[in-house]
Amino acid sequence: MSIKLPKIFLDSGNPEETKRAKGLLGHIDGQTTNPSLVAKHPEAQRFLSQGKKLTEEELLKFYRQIIEEIGREIAGSISVEVYADWDSTASQMLKQAEKMFTWGRNIHIKFPTTEEGLKAASEFTKNGGRVNMTLVFNQTQAAASYAATLQSKETHFVSPFIGRLDDRGVNGLDLVKNIIKLYRKFNKQDKSNILVLAASIRTLQHLYSSIFMGADVVTIPFKIAQEWVKEEKWMPDKHYRPSQSGLKYLKYEDLAFYNNFEKYKIPHIEDDLLDEGLKKFVADWKSLAKI
Ligand code: G3P
Repeated sequence: MSIKLPKIFLDSGNPEETKRAKGLLGHIDGQTTNPSLVAKHPEAQRFLSQGKKLTEEELLKFYRQIIEEIGREIAGSISVEVYADWDSTASQMLKQAEKMFTWGRNIHIKFPTTEEGLKAASEFTKNGGRVNMTLVFNQTQAAASYAATLQSKETHFVSPFIGRLDDRGVNGLDLVKNIIKLYRKFNKQDKSNILVLAASIRTLQHLYSSIFMGADVVTIPFKIAQEWVKEEKWMPDKHYRPSQSGLKYLKYEDLAFYNNFEKYKIPHIEDDLLDEGLKKFVADWKSLAKI
């Protein structure tokens, strides 16, 4: 059994890192961005240190410039994230998505995997859009993302966040494994074009284990790209065994397949990882602009 190399994306809001990662790795297949990563851009850090706030329009212009600069470096997919809090409606997210989709040739729109985000994704993909469903912390969100994108012939992504689950003492890699298993079962009943994109990668173990488990795409921060190059881009083989992490095991749930995404319920639970993740993106966006 040989292990297939997934597509390797860079997880960064800084086009300088795109250039450097390309130089280091020889090639990158795509890039993912989000509000927290854009807020880490050196120019954004300069605004912040001067206590300066952008208008919403200026922030979008700044984000667009970043995406266009990345687009001059790579031909592959670039993920751009909509602004969303718990009150954002699907139609507000869709409006943003339609604009952001024009920022490059190969854009995927990141929608939060909330009930409104899923509605937006379903509409958007029915009309030819491409999506990356983000902030995924459980199989129900992954199943709903599968169903929400079924009508489309484009390729989409679902992004389980490994490191954030680890932060709460739960093995995030188990979620990647469980989603891959669930999608294999679903694929027998229907044909979908949604790929598993392992995100929130913090260590080389996360990278190696995601590759070993069969993730279709892995998005890595620049620091992990540097560490991987030091290891001469080592690849796991069939003898690789993910190290015992001491984290809580996440059991596989044998969810039923529905082609109606609304059958999967995604509750709003105060302080769970989805709530925390959404609030963090909102806070990082609001640190930069008056929204
Ligand atoms: O790709 C998602 C990623 O940017 C989140 O990573 O380290 O903030 O959990 P992290």
